[in-house]
Amino acid sequence: MRIGFSVDDAVSRLKRHHWTFRRLHGIFTNRLTSEPVYELKMAFSLHAHYCAEHAAAWRERVGEMREPPLGLDTVPDASLEVFLDEILAAPDTAALVVGIYGHALPALQAALRNYAAETNRLVDHPSFRICRFALVEVGEMVEYGASALKGLVTDADRTRLSGWETLLDRLLVQAGGLDGSAPPTEPGATERLFSRKAAQFDGTPKRDGRFLDPFNMGVHAEAFLYDPSMPPEPKTLMMYYKRLREIDVPEMMASILAETKDKPWSYMVDMTRQLWDEARHAMMGEVGFVRAGIDWPRFVRVNWTWSLALNTQLSPLERHAVLYFIEQGLMPKTGKRFEWEVGVASGDPFAAMIQDYDWADEVLHARIGRDWYVKQIGDPAQAVAYGDQCWSKVSLQWAHYRDKGLTRHENWWPALYSEWCRGQGRDPDPAVLAYDKSYEGARADLHEISPSG
Ligand SMILES: [Fe+2]
Ligand SMILES: [Fe+2]
Repeated sequence: MRIGFSVDDAVSRLKRHHWTFRRLHGIFTNRLTSEPVYELKMAFSLHAHYCAEHAAAWRERVGEMREPPLGLDTVPDASLEVFLDEILAAPDTAALVVGIYGHALPALQAALRNYAAETNRLVDHPSFRICRFALVEVGEMVEYGASALKGLVTDADRTRLSGWETLLDRLLVQAGGLDGSAPPTEPGATERLFSRKAAQFDGTPKRDGRFLDPFNMGVHAEAFLYDPSMPPEPKTLMMYYKRLREIDVPEMMASILAETKDKPWSYMVDMTRQLWDEARHAMMGEVGFVRAGIDWPRFVRVNWTWSLALNTQLSPLERHAVLYFIEQGLMPKTGKRFEWEVGVASGDPFAAMIQDYDWADEVLHARIGRDWYVKQIGDPAQAVAYGDQCWSKVSLQWAHYRDKGLTRHENWWPALYSEWCRGQGRDPDPAVLAYDKSYEGARADLHEISPSG
């Protein structure tokens, strides 16, 4: 019997929730490539996926509330927009973490809680329901953010950023709160600090100190993996390496999302789901190493040469073409099924399990590629040919990086394999230990030198 919101008031609040999810998705995808901290790169992938999904639910709900034209692509409030612009333009990791996890997400959580508490659950049950579901994941993001703030932001950072944090608070007050539920003060007042110059997407990947030799292309993982004379057990290490190296797929896909405009939101939802899957694939490799007792930063050289090359040498559509072309190559017998079979043959149930799901994810990614990339090109054969052509255009610059002194392409395999044998209490197999093949001379148009999948 309680009086809740009118349809107009509900729509006005829902549009601001939607805008915040949408802009947060943009902040996560804009920043993950150049964010060096590995855990944040992975978290941004997950949180972008959450925000894309919730923004989609809000779009659908607003569309049910007598609102054509929906106005979902227009800024709902100038001060809220500046608040989000400021966070997008945060100058470093600490400021970005403070902005996202210390301000934006807690404000969104409070707004969703208020909405769920105040709306009439009978007349507006569909909105109540999406808020309730979203709060599960917004709560998880806020909780993660509390740990990130503790681990990554010092007291000195907080002092340095205190003026900016006051500005963020003020912008939300000026906006009448994130959801506009309070009367706005100084409407239209939009003081800016970090966003005075519009934030630019930085497609050059960055990594933290655990990635000691990011130009290293010294161990040709696929040549070892596909060599039938090599035993399956050490091949699990190569697969863990291949999985962990997939960090560069989110780094690359984020650049497509950041630089592709004018796509429907369902494109963002699909592509961000795949982006998160690729981040999960990287973490599967990481967990595989931990489970195998390997201190991976010490023994494994995870490079960024693929995302660096694609982000700096190709247009967004060309990058998508390469991704599709590579993933096409993973589906026949030599690809994902083969890796799963190696996992099973190795007797390592973890390797078998992750490859099983990696293969399943790949089938979804092929569907996403068909729905968006192939449809855009118009013809399946032409789509593959164009991907092949774009991939051939990419230079991975093996010799250039060596000649510039950026890497020696050190063969890190024998030390990794020896360490693993030591932990397993087994004698190294001389043929496995002697493996020494780098990516030098690998033709850039061969899909097997790619990290993707
Ligand atoms: Fe993958
Ligand atoms: Fe994939």
